[in-house]
Amino acid sequence: MSQQLEQVKALIALRDKARIGGGQKRIDSQHEKGKYTARERIDMLLDPGSFEEFDMFVTHRCTNFGMEKNVFLGDGVVTGYGTIDGRLVYVFAQDFTVFGGSLSESFAMKICKIMDQAMRMGAPVIGVNDSGGARIQEGVNALAGYTEIFQRNILASGVIPQISAIFGPCAGGAVYSPALTDFNIMTRGTSYMFLTGPKVVKSVTGEVVTQEQLGGASVHASKSGVAHFTVETEEEGIQVIKDLLSYIPQNNLEETPVVPTEDPIDRLDDALNSIIPDNPNKPYDVYEVIGAIVDDGKFLEVHQDYAKNIVVGFARFNGVSVGIVANQPKILAGVLDNNSSRKAARFVRFCDAFNIPLVTLVDVPGFLCGTQQEYGGIILHGAKLLYAYGEATVPKVTVVLRKAYGGAYCVMSSKHLRGDINYAWPTAEIAVMGPSGAIEVLYGKEMKEAENPSEFAAQKEKEYREAFANPYNAARYGYIDDVIEPRNTRFRIIRALQQLATKKLVNPPKKHDNLPL
Ligand code: HXC
Repeated sequence: MSQQLEQVKALIALRDKARIGGGQKRIDSQHEKGKYTARERIDMLLDPGSFEEFDMFVTHRCTNFGMEKNVFLGDGVVTGYGTIDGRLVYVFAQDFTVFGGSLSESFAMKICKIMDQAMRMGAPVIGVNDSGGARIQEGVNALAGYTEIFQRNILASGVIPQISAIFGPCAGGAVYSPALTDFNIMTRGTSYMFLTGPKVVKSVTGEVVTQEQLGGASVHASKSGVAHFTVETEEEGIQVIKDLLSYIPQNNLEETPVVPTEDPIDRLDDALNSIIPDNPNKPYDVYEVIGAIVDDGKFLEVHQDYAKNIVVGFARFNGVSVGIVANQPKILAGVLDNNSSRKAARFVRFCDAFNIPLVTLVDVPGFLCGTQQEYGGIILHGAKLLYAYGEATVPKVTVVLRKAYGGAYCVMSSKHLRGDINYAWPTAEIAVMGPSGAIEVLYGKEMKEAENPSEFAAQKEKEYREAFANPYNAARYGYIDDVIEPRNTRFRIIRALQQLATKKLVNPPKKHDNLPL
């Protein structure tokens, strides 16, 4: 065999060695836990044959604790680029089979390299997390490595989409990289995220808690809001990433590709003409409205289990990707509270950063009142949503389905926050507050003195409803551009979006804003 052939053979052998990561035993153990390996995950994620790997031969440089004798090619993270549905993406997948996927300086530099490339090319970064955190033997070098990643996450925010899949442990300061990215996907039962694990929690606070209770997928989906999507399997998680990418552009200077649809633009849905109950206190399900108006009834919901009184997610109108924000009358009457305000604000800002038009469906009785909300900062959190809508320059189409009361009217993409097209259904009620509160304030004294206070209140409520519980007062001032037939909503939104396709609106130049955090 020629010398060159031998060198080629040696290369192939080295590649095979790198591909086996921490060895077959650890791969088997990974599979036994119901998890895939880093390479298997990348294979599932990318278009077949599209993956180009970087830095397969990188190794750590640590000599503490005899580490120089413990070296693996690639050092516990697989990085590179490929395509999803033909579109360029950069990926890294932490390899739990090598030092528990723990992060060394070299490991971090591999991730930084693909993040830098992604920024230069204007393509999304997808990170698969499955790691024991900072590699203990590396000391401060591991911390430095993490922080280099955080810095890149920050600079990439709003420039390229960043998506994190949490398919295993993600503990300690390591959680801050996913937290800085746009979307987190967690698998139920096999992933967890926390700043400090159960043992430390017990020693510091005395609280006894399991990993799942502390930072499992359902905790982060429903209580903290850290997880935007939870899935049962990694396959499902990979599919969510693919679906998500189909709704978003490659970077902040591009638009999302249009996905042609057979769904007619002028499809009428008669059911919408009778979806609003006669009793204004009776709920209906806003998912039914969303399903009826978007292309093929397809809706990718974000934060499904968190602050369910507001619904946010992606859909298409005549193939154009939009972000939908909708109050959900079925949960807490669709009221705006601390969590729903933050949830919607973050979503609105994501859409605005990435040129995704916003469609807002309004049915909101107001902001939730009381000490719990006030102490929790409803003033600041509500202001976040106000800020997000007010600064957004993407096309904004709003439909008031029923209630739009008080501050919540102002906030929900109203005309006064540069709403471009604001429609209302004939069932819309637009006023400073709901009838019972208004009557209490306006006629409190008379009510006490009335012979029959409840009859008096009912009569006044009726008068108030007749005066305000309609869209025509707002329409009279041009705050509502048109009152539309509910069954025609899809067509009217599509026409509005077509009209707004060339919208140009630029905010005043500034270093950055001062969003009420
Ligand atoms: C070095 C690590 C490691 C780490 C795991 N390993 N975590 N090596 N540094 N941080 C190694 C283990 O020694 C073991 O090696 C292999 O990975 C697999 O780990 P196991 O413990 O056997 O696996 P499992 O039972 O599944 O438990 C997984 C785990 C546990 C829950 C993640 O390993 C663990 O608690 N690790 C430490 C987590 C942690 O506290 N990290 C630091 C967080 S602080 P062998 O050779 O035996 O197979 C942090 C600061 C970041 O990250 C700050 C950024 C600013």
